[in-house]
Amino acid sequence: MSKKTKKHESAEVISLSEVVTNVALLNLTKENNELKLEQKKICEMAARTILHALDCKDHYTYGHSMRVAYFSLSLGREIGLDEEELYDLELAALFHDIGKIGVPDSVLLKPSRLTEDEFLAMKAHPSKSAEILEGFTHFDKVAKYAKHHHERWDRKRIPRRS
Ligand SMILES: [Fe+2]
Repeated sequence: MSKKTKKHESAEVISLSEVVTNVALLNLTKENNELKLEQKKICEMAARTILHALDCKDHYTYGHSMRVAYFSLSLGREIGLDEEELYDLELAALFHDIGKIGVPDSVLLKPSRLTEDEFLAMKAHPSKSAEILEGFTHFDKVAKYAKHHHERWDRKRIPRRS
């Protein structure tokens, strides 16, 4: 075997090794992407289920949440948020009021002015939203957004009782 041929065979072995490594990496990447896609589907199913529960409990709040999501995404795109930030923003907008599930109907749907106790029950809904969302680790960031959705930049809460 000539020196030139040996060099050629050696190059083929290295090249084959690289191919095997690359194929293995491609398989891992494909498997990882499939897992990410599956995880995203599960999250979307969870999101739809939670929203359906909200719609059953309080159709007005469901519609409000859908509108908040629409306008939040428009604003988020306008200020240049990336896809991941937009995803979290949309989930936060959709679920910010999910804690209202824990507010009694007699308070949530009361057409007249709330008593002090009723107002306190209503005021707890952002914390309840966070509690509900924290149960799903994928929604950690969303839970934080929901928890503070009635706070202003000066840390005062709205709506205030007047
Ligand atoms: Fe709210």
